Amino acid sequence: MADPRIGIIDKRLEKVKRVIAVSSGKGGVGKSLIASTLALTLSQKNRSVGLFDVDFTSPSTHIILGIQNVKPKEEKGLIPADAHGIKYVSIINYSGEEALPLRGADVSNALIELFAITRWETLDFLIMDMPPGISDATLDMIRFVKKIEFLVVSTPSQLAFETVKKLLKLLLELKVPLVGVVENMKMKESNFVKTHVEALDVPFLGEIPFDPKVEEAFGNANALVNTVFAKRLTDIALKVFP
Ligand SMILES: Nc1ncnc2c1ncn2[C@@H]1O[C@H](COP(=O)(O)OP(=O)(O)OP(=O)(O)O)[C@@H](O)[C@H]1O
Ligand SMILES: [Mg+2]
Repeated sequence: MADPRIGIIDKRLEKVKRVIAVSSGKGGVGKSLIASTLALTLSQKNRSVGLFDVDFTSPSTHIILGIQNVKPKEEKGLIPADAHGIKYVSIINYSGEEALPLRGADVSNALIELFAITRWETLDFLIMDMPPGISDATLDMIRFVKKIEFLVVSTPSQLAFETVKKLLKLLLELKVPLVGVVENMKMKESNFVKTHVEALDVPFLGEIPFDPKVEEAFGNANALVNTVFAKRLTDIALKVFP
């Protein structure tokens, strides 16, 4: 029998215009930083934005944005907390600072549950910070979040792109909408990623330089939006989400 919660998820996301999964295949490429900063800048451009941290292994958006002690309210489901004007839900609200001792099927279950109970209401964008890898969680979300679109992050490294390419091919094969690829932590000029992305007929959205100052801005949303990193990301975001 089909899981009845899957129908509920559609209903829960009914008033959300776009669901953007910031994903990669590869770990450590800047997904969390991009998801957090994207949510922040879109919200400052007067879009209604939700940020959903679904990285069970290393939730980090709360550290990047300096979100402490905010908990969603429970009222006929879960009402996201408000943080810097963003509606915010993180798995950290359930796991705390401890590692979450869940196996594959339990992760899926917890994720479906969280989607089924969260009341996002009306949003222009729901940004999701995805776990690394092409995990069960990724496949589940493709299956039960009908509106999902992927924004894929790579670094200039051939090694990173090798894994990113696998995710892109999978998404193309499954006909999952792809916003495109952002190349992050650029240190010198190269066309490797852009050329290979375009060869797959996937939009190349732009590049973001390595910004040695970005780490100092963690925990301080005002400082974060003023980094070179955030400015470059905002340029890309305004082009991609006019
Ligand atoms: N453009 C950049 N300039 C400088 N540092 C960056 C940049 N992008 C990301 N970083 C740094 O790289 C590290 C990894 O970033 P982040 O945690 O966002 O990656 P991730 O893809 O979410 O990792 P994981 O796969 O573990 O979830 C962090 O220390 C972050 O500060
Ligand atoms: Mg991350």
